[in-house]
Amino acid sequence: MTSTHTQAHASAAARKAAANRVNAKPGRKVFVRILRCDGPGQPSRWETFSVTIERGANVISCLQQIAANPITSDGTRSTPVVWDSGCLEEVCGACTMVINGKVRQSCSCLIDDHAPTEGDTITLEPMSKFPVVRDLWVDRSRLFHNLKRVKAWVPIDGTYALGPGPSESAESQEQRYVMSTCMSCGCCLEACPQFNVEPDPAAWDTAFVGAHALNQARLFNQHETGRRMKGERLDALMGTGGVNDCGNAQNCVKVCPKLIPLTESIAVIGRATTIHAFARWFSGK
Ligand code: SF4
Ligand code: SF4
Ligand code: FES
Repeated sequence: MTSTHTQAHASAAARKAAANRVNAKPGRKVFVRILRCDGPGQPSRWETFSVTIERGANVISCLQQIAANPITSDGTRSTPVVWDSGCLEEVCGACTMVINGKVRQSCSCLIDDHAPTEGDTITLEPMSKFPVVRDLWVDRSRLFHNLKRVKAWVPIDGTYALGPGPSESAESQEQRYVMSTCMSCGCCLEACPQFNVEPDPAAWDTAFVGAHALNQARLFNQHETGRRMKGERLDALMGTGGVNDCGNAQNCVKVCPKLIPLTESIAVIGRATTIHAFARWFSGK
């Protein structure tokens, strides 16, 4: 799917959501069906709760209602559902979960858009590519580990004044801005057929690094100061688990909530690793 097709698909979904929002009646009851799990290694089970929806309710406000009164729709007392969140404005990425089968942020998911009618059901599941801590809360440590693999930072540590950094053109800032909006949410990894659960941290360094890390490598390789570590980043991405493990399924770019051109970033990194490999070969290093 091209980026034009992706945008058309996204705008069709946005139009449907807007139409639902207009027709949604406040005060209606909606069922929230949740895949629950008491902890790592524990079996999962479905529980359904009935929630009263006010105008502007999002998935998190439903979870708060359930936490205040954790009684299932068949009248059984349960426990408050656990989830992760921070900013409540689609910036921190912590509240990501699978909602009606699509990975996205729960804080920005409005119930009026997805369950506009009395008796509608909305389904919540934890992301499947990360270990469940409890209920809808997953452990995204591997996502952050993979950012360390590609040294996704600018090298400015030190105990002395570094002076002003090199200036950066407005064009470069503009191009890099969208890449910098990544919030480490994990949507691109959840959708990627090459990224699978890896419970053993010892295997993380050779498993596929993921689209988010490839994009961050591009972001920092194009930064005037960050590019000093370009060779180290490309070294990390040339081996097992690097850019060549991407199967080009392009699922990642379809689900990124920040509309980051991930497949473009993957292509840029792919070309850069090829050039880097030739340069190393010719220099005998
Ligand atoms: S293009 Fe690569 S990173 Fe993106 S979903 Fe496909 S395999 Fe994963
Ligand atoms: S690249 Fe997009 S989908 Fe992936 S972690 Fe960043 S914001 Fe989320
Ligand atoms: S709570 Fe931060 S993105 Fe949803």
